[in-house]
Amino acid sequence: MKILMVCLGNICRSPIADGLLRQKVKHAGLDIIVDSAGTSGHHVGEAPDPRMRATAKKLGCPIDDLRARQFSVKDFDEFDVIYAMDSSNYNNIIKLSRNEQDRAKVKMLLNEVYPGENRAVPDPYYGGEQGFIDVFRMVDEATTIILNKYTNGR
Ligand code: 4NP
Repeated sequence: MKILMVCLGNICRSPIADGLLRQKVKHAGLDIIVDSAGTSGHHVGEAPDPRMRATAKKLGCPIDDLRARQFSVKDFDEFDVIYAMDSSNYNNIIKLSRNEQDRAKVKMLLNEVYPGENRAVPDPYYGGEQGFIDVFRMVDEATTIILNKYTNGR
């Protein structure tokens, strides 16, 4: 199983979604590969935003080692599930899809918590510290639900 987290820049939301799910997968001893990417190429090669890194460290999930990359059409072949943080990310991913099989892989992350509501993980980039804490909490909840899907029955 391979899971990809996607936002716009791959420096705020998807890196913490990636880091938290990786941490939970490792702790549970599961065979799940987790990665993240951005629909834009503006921050390729960069570490996550310093504010996201600080919040992540403070709340127990350091993500200093992650580096931004851009989502590419090959990711549809590589990954089983592709989670978008908001509807803009979702639409940008869908624009790159080639067929129904690609499109079936794309989901809104917070639909794991609030099924069918298409709620967004809000972009914290232009806000204050609280926005980063809120993102961490939302993504923490969603990734716990994802993890539980794969641990049930074990
Ligand atoms: P992200 O946040 O999509 O959660 O990584 C953003 C990062 C950078 C920009 C916007 C959102 N930006 O405009 O550079």
